[in-house]
Amino acid sequence: MGSKIIERDWQPAPAPETSSLATLKKAAKACTACHLFRHATQTVFGGGPEGATLMLLGEQPGDQEDLTGKPFVGPAGKILDRALEDAGIDRRKVYVTNTVKHFKWEPRGKRRIHKKPNSREIAACRPWLEAELRVVRPGLLVCLGATAAQAVFGPAFRVTRDRGRVLEAELAPKVMATVHPSSLLRQPDEEAREREYKLFVADLRVALKAL
Ligand code: URA
Repeated sequence: MGSKIIERDWQPAPAPETSSLATLKKAAKACTACHLFRHATQTVFGGGPEGATLMLLGEQPGDQEDLTGKPFVGPAGKILDRALEDAGIDRRKVYVTNTVKHFKWEPRGKRRIHKKPNSREIAACRPWLEAELRVVRPGLLVCLGATAAQAVFGPAFRVTRDRGRVLEAELAPKVMATVHPSSLLRQPDEEAREREYKLFVADLRVALKAL
């Protein structure tokens, strides 16, 4: 019963009130708001210019992001880079971050396999996302995949139904959702991969136009 009371009253720790991304990033290094820090190498904070007009929001760091401390540098990041370029977007001008900032994984042999973050872990990380949005104030937030989109719009949101539409949310005045670039890696064949890639680039072009 005691633990239930703690659970109901639980609140994520606030992020520092600051207008500096460097200060936020430094503070986030010590985040223990959920248990994920225990098995991750480091906090993977967002990266990109403070004045970015476009912010991309992924799910959580993967294996390579965990090791390097940078978002979207692994296989999904490579696809993202190519798609941004094809859409005419310069990644160096984009702020890229994740809904959850520690890698959640389970061992499979020698590999670390990605595990989807749960609602408690997403809630624990939310103050960091709110702080990033407060500092960067992007003209458009683009959610990559269902975890990011549902963290922003709520659990009823469906990427398949509402992708590519510029909508309003409590967290940010202009938000668009599209698929996660890693979903392109999971397509059954080359034809499907190519088709889905083109749709992803088309969504990114909508984002560019909406800025
Ligand atoms: N997938 C994500 O959602 N974010 C990353 O940074 C890498 C892979």
